[in-house]
Amino acid sequence: MTEAPQPCVLLIFGATGDLARRKLMPALFRLHAKGLLPKGFAILGASRRPLSHDQFRALMREACATFCATAPSDEQWSSFSECLYYEAGHFTDQTLFQRLNMSLREIDHRHGTEGNRIFYLATLPSSYPLLVRQLQGAEMINKVDDRPFTRLIVEKPFGRDLDSAIALNDEISTVFREDQVYRIDHYLGKETVQNILVFRFANAIFEPLWNRIHIDHVQITAAETLGIEGRGSYYEESGVLRDMVQNHLLQVLSLVAMEPPLSFDADAVRDKKTEVFRALRRLVDRDDVLAATARGQYGQSPDGALKAYREESGVDPQSTVPTYVALRVFVDNWRWQGVPFYIRTGKGLRHSSTEVVIQFRQIPFCLFGQDQVCSRIEPNRLVLRIQPYEGISLGFGIKAPGNEAHVDYARMRFAYGNRYDGEMPLAYERLLTDAMRGYAALFARRDSVEEAWRFVTPILDIWAENPATDFPNYASGSDGPKNAEALIRGDGRAWHPLDPPVPSS
Ligand code: BG6
Repeated sequence: MTEAPQPCVLLIFGATGDLARRKLMPALFRLHAKGLLPKGFAILGASRRPLSHDQFRALMREACATFCATAPSDEQWSSFSECLYYEAGHFTDQTLFQRLNMSLREIDHRHGTEGNRIFYLATLPSSYPLLVRQLQGAEMINKVDDRPFTRLIVEKPFGRDLDSAIALNDEISTVFREDQVYRIDHYLGKETVQNILVFRFANAIFEPLWNRIHIDHVQITAAETLGIEGRGSYYEESGVLRDMVQNHLLQVLSLVAMEPPLSFDADAVRDKKTEVFRALRRLVDRDDVLAATARGQYGQSPDGALKAYREESGVDPQSTVPTYVALRVFVDNWRWQGVPFYIRTGKGLRHSSTEVVIQFRQIPFCLFGQDQVCSRIEPNRLVLRIQPYEGISLGFGIKAPGNEAHVDYARMRFAYGNRYDGEMPLAYERLLTDAMRGYAALFARRDSVEEAWRFVTPILDIWAENPATDFPNYASGSDGPKNAEALIRGDGRAWHPLDPPVPSS
């Protein structure tokens, strides 16, 4: 891995779109403000909107003012905007690519970017194959070696099922080598998600316990209060499994479950993650799927203040698209045999909270006399809080003061906010920097993406053949549908409460 980000031009297709304005530009601006961009660096935006360089810069300044916690000062903006350029055109138009090529050469000259290119596909996925072919047609790709380098960053979704993912990957691989492709999953750029591996492999005390002998089950939760925020037509096509599970949450699961890699090299880490995806127990028939999953869709809140999913714009008033899922997943290997991983995620919930809970086994024998005491002894629980109020807590039994052997439950807590000043780096800051360094460990490799689809696609198919008849089945602003409770309760377990997050919880 090269430590420092290398000089390059970042060419963003779809540069005036939502993703570029909300995520990419704020992250790039923050990297600039922290002095973390390479010395030779420039951004070239491309999209259909006819804009001059200056109009594009003004639009991006507005985006940074809206989506960065602190709006750029005049001075910061003027130095950053010097490296911003724009080219308008249709992606079907070959002359656009000739113009881009010319601009790139001029930029190389002006900014010392050495012919290195990162192409960022921040467009609708339907444009990916066309863009890749146009880049090839305009001879903008160096597939032979990395002098100069060409890299491709692709945004999710990578396909909408196994077949389309394979087709997309095939298409990309005719033009790029796999090691030139950086598939973004922004969850992997989150500090606390990266911390899962550091926590596991930079400490000697937890790893010996990290297996079926000591762990009863794992819960991975990503609860969101927000609805679909104007993305009705996208969400109708996607639904919760494609939107959150196939990518973000299975990636988190793989980090929790993977074996120690031989090193932190991109492929060493990704090999171990792929093994987890391969070990996911497939749910193949209707009964398997319906027994291991619970679906939900939010309805109006009881006071009518929060809309139902079916009332959102772009959504079919009879839609059976799920906005919530809970599922029980098994990782069939030596370490995890028999340990359920429960995943739940949904929109329109009571609190926003993303966390991983590792629940250890109950004590094997109770020394403290009466049943009432023993039944109150909670198992140890390790909570890795991904967001908000990032941190870790470990719960354990203690003796409550007094004459009785009264066992109480205490929590030892670490909160990033108490330890480190300032805002956490944005996920995109880390991922864009890594792409500039040529370090791909935090990007999804082809095999893991396809393995994740191999697990998810049969669920999607069986759900489609058996559409839910009880939607909407939870109220917006609630804890989610009853069937999700039943799923875990049927196994004699309970969800970790969706409590309002507090800074040190
Ligand atoms: C996106 C999904 O990938 O991740 C959104 O499309 C979801 O629907 C978002 O809200 C969650 O990301 P974060 O970083 O807010 O947890």
